[in-house]
Amino acid sequence: MTHDSLLTYRDRFPITQRSNYLINNSLGAMPKAARQSVLRFLDEWDTRGVRAWGDGWWALQEQLADQIAIVLGAAKGSVSMHQNIAVAQEMILSCFRFDGPRNKVVYADRNFPSDQYIYEARAAHGARLVRVPAASDGISTDGEQIAAAIDDQTLIVAIDHVMFRSSAIVDIAPIVQKARKHGAFVVLDVFHSAGIVPLDAKALGVHAIVGGALKWLCGGPGNCFLYVHPEEVQRLQPSFTGWAAHKQPFAFSPAGQDYRDDGGRFATGTPNVPALYSGKEGVATIVEVGVAAIRAKSQRQTKLLIELAQSAGLAIKSPLDGARRGGHVALDVPNGYAVCQSLSAREIVVDFRPDAGLRVAPHFYNTDDEVVAVVRSIRESLDSRDYERFLSQAKKPG
Ligand SMILES: Cc1ncc(COP(=O)(O)O)c(C=O)c1O
Repeated sequence: MTHDSLLTYRDRFPITQRSNYLINNSLGAMPKAARQSVLRFLDEWDTRGVRAWGDGWWALQEQLADQIAIVLGAAKGSVSMHQNIAVAQEMILSCFRFDGPRNKVVYADRNFPSDQYIYEARAAHGARLVRVPAASDGISTDGEQIAAAIDDQTLIVAIDHVMFRSSAIVDIAPIVQKARKHGAFVVLDVFHSAGIVPLDAKALGVHAIVGGALKWLCGGPGNCFLYVHPEEVQRLQPSFTGWAAHKQPFAFSPAGQDYRDDGGRFATGTPNVPALYSGKEGVATIVEVGVAAIRAKSQRQTKLLIELAQSAGLAIKSPLDGARRGGHVALDVPNGYAVCQSLSAREIVVDFRPDAGLRVAPHFYNTDDEVVAVVRSIRESLDSRDYERFLSQAKKPG
């Protein structure tokens, strides 16, 4: 039996005492400390009122952004916080115009919808869309294929680092190389890699990174982020802006915007303080544990999961090569949504996505027994037809 030192963190995540919680690529478990942290916010609001801004509320967004910068392997001061990816993407888009000859957007067919719809909506403003289909295996995005679509008229390349359906990791190197040669701007969505796959913003060489803390970073909703390469910051002037992006926000200058010189240039208005309080404990824990150790365990457990699923006759819709796989495994079972519901009734929490199947995503606090149990329960649900109880249920969010 392997000694698993990361299980010493398990007690910090109360849901693991009640459930077999295996959906960490969708919503990471809440750290126990987040409750105290949110209560602290309420106490400060209650007792200090408006003075809480100066006591620490205003500084909190930069503190969390700097913790996230550690996860991204990025410089201090290069990250800003946002409500969600759609907002972070819009922030980047607002730095560009689409009415000139360089107006192509190259993006992957398998991107998450927030990284698709927002770019497609720019077609009405002149963007020419170049949508690159999935690789021939139907589950991956081929970095070389994306690179081949980039030319001198390409303005932006928008790409997800880890595919949300299949967990396939995209090879970013050829994309960045070609984009830099042709002067295109690369935006990488690391939502499915931040906190589970080690990242090094400098080595990746992309111009901007968007991501969120609610999945593998265990930071809850409302804590998404935007990194902009320090060499790009000065030339970008977002038209989506607000007073928090000003060099001296508390001067409330009527003279107009004077953008900050760091990542704070991409801030908007008043920060989402309750979200920051609920998010900081999870991110701090990931930094404490270290993504390299988390990745090593994740690769071992997803390999185990795949071996067990194959023995149980379940179809795998994720790369079998661990180096090309992120933190979750997609199991393409028949009647996947109903099977997902039948597992939930047994306190085994996974999710279902069309064209992917059941997504199973162990994190550093999960045991190997839990991985064994989920595969056994899927097989049982299918064999006993327990899932049929849920066939008529309308789909719920989650
Ligand atoms: C790759 C990726 N990007 C973005 C999102 C979410 O987008 P938003 O923050 O706009 O809700 C998800 C959600 O699962 C995702 O998988």
